[in-house]
Amino acid sequence: MNEFIHHIHNIYSQFGNSKYDELITQTEHATQCAALAKASGASPDLTIAALLHDIGHLLVLAQGNGVADLSVDDEHEALGARHLAAHFPSGVTAPIALHVAAKRFLCTADDTYFDQLSIGSVRSLEKQGGLMTHQEVMRFERSPHFSSAVELRRWDEAAKDEHIVVDPFDSYLEMMESIITSK
Ligand SMILES: [Fe+2]
Ligand SMILES: [Fe+2]
Repeated sequence: MNEFIHHIHNIYSQFGNSKYDELITQTEHATQCAALAKASGASPDLTIAALLHDIGHLLVLAQGNGVADLSVDDEHEALGARHLAAHFPSGVTAPIALHVAAKRFLCTADDTYFDQLSIGSVRSLEKQGGLMTHQEVMRFERSPHFSSAVELRRWDEAAKDEHIVVDPFDSYLEMMESIITSK
């Protein structure tokens, strides 16, 4: 296995059981999100972005020996994207970097979206900047990764189901490997 994939695998093995303010574990959330991406016919890059979009939360846990301070914004989207950037292309890292902005965008632009948020997502929204200003909306819509970030964020919120079982984390190792080797 590629050394960096081995490292990612280790992070999820060690900290993926954390629920991080949701009802399901981080690994369940990651694999549900990737399964939704795959079912929507997403590219391998976007599927892996869905799988790893919250790796920043796990990095925070790794730094805190399994403990995270939920009272502050952990900026996990930037942390995760930066951590992956040397190995994965922007098709993976940009939607990850933008998935919190996409949440703020959807809460601002889509009247029905806020009501779909989990309790944890509502709790973190204010710390993440709350609703977007008109200018922030315009700027965000111009981002080249706007659509993939919004798509990822819609799967993100849907990927918190306590009752479904999807393909395991390890079933994506090969896909990750082929993205890394073709970068
Ligand atoms: Fe997130
Ligand atoms: Fe998430």
